[in-house]
Amino acid sequence: MKRRKFLKRASLTGIGVAVGTTILANTPSNKVNEIEENLLTNTKENFPIVISTWNVPNATKKAGILIEEGGTSLDAIEKGCMIEEADLNNHSVGNGGRPDRDGHVTLDACIMDKNGNYGSVVYMQNIVHAIAVARKVMEDTPHVILAGKGAEEFAISKGFKKTNLLTEASKKAWEEWKKESNYQPLINIENHDTIGMLAIDKYGDISGGCTTSGLAYKMAGRVGDSPIIGSGLFIDNQVGGATATGMGEEVLKTVGSFLIVELMRQGKSPQEACEEAILRIVTKNDNYKKFQVGYIAINKKGETGYYSIHEYFSVSIYKDNNCINLPSDFFNKTK
Ligand code: GLY
Repeated sequence: MKRRKFLKRASLTGIGVAVGTTILANTPSNKVNEIEENLLTNTKENFPIVISTWNVPNATKKAGILIEEGGTSLDAIEKGCMIEEADLNNHSVGNGGRPDRDGHVTLDACIMDKNGNYGSVVYMQNIVHAIAVARKVMEDTPHVILAGKGAEEFAISKGFKKTNLLTEASKKAWEEWKKESNYQPLINIENHDTIGMLAIDKYGDISGGCTTSGLAYKMAGRVGDSPIIGSGLFIDNQVGGATATGMGEEVLKTVGSFLIVELMRQGKSPQEACEEAILRIVTKNDNYKKFQVGYIAINKKGETGYYSIHEYFSVSIYKDNNCINLPSDFFNKTK
């Protein structure tokens, strides 16, 4: 189903469009409809704008305000993602993230700027703000990826504080899991919340970022899609950007974010490109019912798209001083 139709139906039935209650609590419903319409209108300049995976109003608003005030999309992405990394209640990102099967919280993150520069950290421990370290890798080293201990030591050399990322809550959940140690690398269809964020600033420049603690109770050493250029994130400032959430192995195997940007380059809308990238996964996997993948994309005009395999994926969008949470259309309509 095309997104416009989907949103229209959701609005009419009153079941689909979840307005970010924190931020839009006082926004009249006609204003919400206007924001929705604006987001769907094929205007020439639909920016500045920020879109994030999942319902993350605080992070999206932080980034949105920054670009509204004239900041760059790169700063907005870094500062926005940092909000989620510091949030102890978000168990898929940064501090308080779920550990691997051995009890180690390991973080993956990457950032990409308008010039096609990219920095990433993989399998980094003991540092909260993986996205900020990724930016330092991009700006202060001749490399693009730092891994493990090297990434941690680099972060410390740049002034980042060493922190134990395994909170009491995550430790308790891990100890509970250990009782059965039922290792099934399945990402929870409803709740997995790797944060991917894309922004276009007032100058029309696109940046993106992605940050995660990855799959809960993964094998030690496992790295997902999020820090890998072209898979978890890709930006081409002439075309657009895309980022992913969900089962990283499937995104990696289809180089999902690069695929979406290249499809947009060929003329597809962000929505069409996201749908095709999801189709690429489900047609290759008989077991797609067992995992979730969600994509978001933005093109140079500021048009957005988002699509997932299953229900319950959603996006946060900041535009014109408002932040809304919208449910994504999805592939698997069977219950
Ligand atoms: N998409 C995040 C991960 O699989 O680690």
